[in-house]
Amino acid sequence: MSTQAEFARFENIAVLYLDNPPVNSLGTAVCQQLHHTFAQALAEPTVDAIIIAARGKVFSAGADISEFQSGTAGGSDLRDLLNAIAASSKPVVAAIQGMALGGGLELTLACNYRLATPSARLGLPEVSLGVIPGAGGTQRLPRIIGLEKAIELATSGKPVSAKAALEFGLVDQILPEGEDFHTGVIAFARSVANKDTHPSAGDVALAAAPAAADARQQFEAAITKSARGRTAPLKAFEAVWLSTELPLEQGLEREAEIFLECNASEQGRGLQHIFFAERKAAQIRDIPGDVKPRAMDTVAIIGAGTMGGGIAMNFLNAGIPVTILDLSQEGLDRGLAAIRKNYEISAARGKMTAEQVEQRMGLLGGTTSYAAIGDADLVIEAVFENMDVKKKVFATLDTVAKSGAILATNTSTLDVNEIAAVTSRPQDVIGLHFFSPANVMRLVEIVRARETAPDALKTALHMCKVIKKVGVVVGVCFGFVGNRMMEPYGREAHRLLLEGATPDQIDHALTQFGMSMGPLSVYDLAGNDIGAAIRQHDRTAFAHDGSYYRIGDLLSERGQFGQKAGMGFYRYEGRDKSANPDLAAMVAEQAAALGIAQREISDTEIVERCLYPLVDEGIRILEEGIAQRPGDIDVVWCNGYGFPPYRGGPMHWADEVGMKVIYEAMMGYRESLGDYGPKWFNPSDSLEKLVQSGAKLTSLFPND
Ligand code: COA
Repeated sequence: MSTQAEFARFENIAVLYLDNPPVNSLGTAVCQQLHHTFAQALAEPTVDAIIIAARGKVFSAGADISEFQSGTAGGSDLRDLLNAIAASSKPVVAAIQGMALGGGLELTLACNYRLATPSARLGLPEVSLGVIPGAGGTQRLPRIIGLEKAIELATSGKPVSAKAALEFGLVDQILPEGEDFHTGVIAFARSVANKDTHPSAGDVALAAAPAAADARQQFEAAITKSARGRTAPLKAFEAVWLSTELPLEQGLEREAEIFLECNASEQGRGLQHIFFAERKAAQIRDIPGDVKPRAMDTVAIIGAGTMGGGIAMNFLNAGIPVTILDLSQEGLDRGLAAIRKNYEISAARGKMTAEQVEQRMGLLGGTTSYAAIGDADLVIEAVFENMDVKKKVFATLDTVAKSGAILATNTSTLDVNEIAAVTSRPQDVIGLHFFSPANVMRLVEIVRARETAPDALKTALHMCKVIKKVGVVVGVCFGFVGNRMMEPYGREAHRLLLEGATPDQIDHALTQFGMSMGPLSVYDLAGNDIGAAIRQHDRTAFAHDGSYYRIGDLLSERGQFGQKAGMGFYRYEGRDKSANPDLAAMVAEQAAALGIAQREISDTEIVERCLYPLVDEGIRILEEGIAQRPGDIDVVWCNGYGFPPYRGGPMHWADEVGMKVIYEAMMGYRESLGDYGPKWFNPSDSLEKLVQSGAKLTSLFPND
């Protein structure tokens, strides 16, 4: 067995090093080894103080999340270790560099002293995984830093800097980084070694909960609002609150029970699935891990519009120089000014300093000439979504870009093979589908064309990591993964209007489900004209259904493009959104013309009608190999389309619901919706097969 907890002596001080790369997660074996070395340090009479430190960049990213669902751990080894540390007869000092998260922070809370490097970050992110801190975090933390601050850390999941932690007493001292840290920590341990008493969370009796009768309700109301459907933050609150009601030991027992309850919940499974799916998405099955990315030191962006500007900001934020090319000087000036304005707004809100604004702007250049971008390592085209325009850009790039440069198109629907074919170097051509606003949205669909080279794909994935995005590799098809699945989702939302549901009811049913925005509000935001233009691509594909996106097309014809026009499915006045006064009549007229009877529609029907066909489209995408694994689709939908991560994404959710339930509901709608049913409710072959075998989606399309 490899050594994951090392024991070292520095005269009268013992240092126990966690050594479990890459992030020193505290799995069963690590906890057992650390427990063993801890007992060894306690037993040695010449050891006066014990330091818990770590090898590598990170102190510890917490309990081993991969053990949460396997039933191997349940955290009892970590809890036993922490209880032993808390009961230590010798002072214990935690030496925190990099990060102390979750169980990693809980480990330090069981110690008497916490020292940190200036760059360290400390936090309890468990709620992001659908659980609560389960190894004392909710009981020891309030005893150390007070109730309110502990509630904030445990329910928000957000880490804090060492400086902030020092201010509110989570950290005792900040010591310089590197070798000096090691020396400083040992000197500190020596200075406290012979003191008679040492601070310990176990000795603190917390004051009773705030007397104000409504204090608890106020916390709960605020947490419920910011949790947006997630249950773990309220559970974390409940546990922290218990620290004011129960002695430590009983509080710890109750905390462990709540942890297990959350871990066994659908939300726990969903959020943990997304955590691993996001990391898995960075692996491409048929490309060996040792293929190296190409250089990405300079970037050029074609098109100074909103998309080009947003994309550029990501690179500037990461310290990478960008040149934006726009053929019109006026367009270029406008684009560069818009970027500056965005940064200045951030500075005015206190999110960055004026100096940082200038640093970023100093990395940005503009040109109207293709010759000026010949040296760029990566060129991203972000011009108008039109095949001819894009082909022209790529033909020109082929003549100016240096050999080995990656040529990327930011198309959302177009065929990247066709674009690559106009160049003499299709192996260097790739799709990078950023989402709007590109400086905010985390998702990038990385489109792998027929001839895209493995190292070009690796570069795109590396790029995502550098600019803090989540990249998902997808194949070429109309709309790739996200927009292709949006099609049946939006189609049903539009059709439900004709059958009698209001925009409000449709949007509300789906936001209640957890979508961050209802589908019709999404169309109003994206522009009903844009939707209609995309449908123009192939109207024969839905010519058999006169009701297909009928209302969206009509709104577009009437100039009711949505938010930008002040009118769409809704009316927009400033920040107010209300019913479009003409819509009900328009819908009734169209329904009558199409012979569709209007009726009462339940929220359940809305959710099933919109989401089951979306899931089935996801299954087809897997059948065709457009996505590598269901988890990749989940990452796309949670990061680009507002699907609630606590449901794990549409494909994970589908397995939770059950293939049979989805299939039977689809067949039910096929029957009950008259002519319309057989037009669109035709379950995929794989869905049928899964129902017959009673297996889960992941048995046919695994997530590894
Ligand atoms: N348990 C198990 N594995 C973990 C882990 C944990 N607590 N934290 C990270 N890992 C794994 C990741 O799955 C990844 O594995 P892979 O290389 O096989 O894909 C690897 O460690 C590196 O993590 P990654 O997230 O890619 O590195 P990063 O440098 O971008 O981020 C962290 C580092 C620590 C910020 C990030 O991993 C993180 O947030 N971890 C979870 C922290 C947490 O929620 N802890 C609470 C648990 S009690």
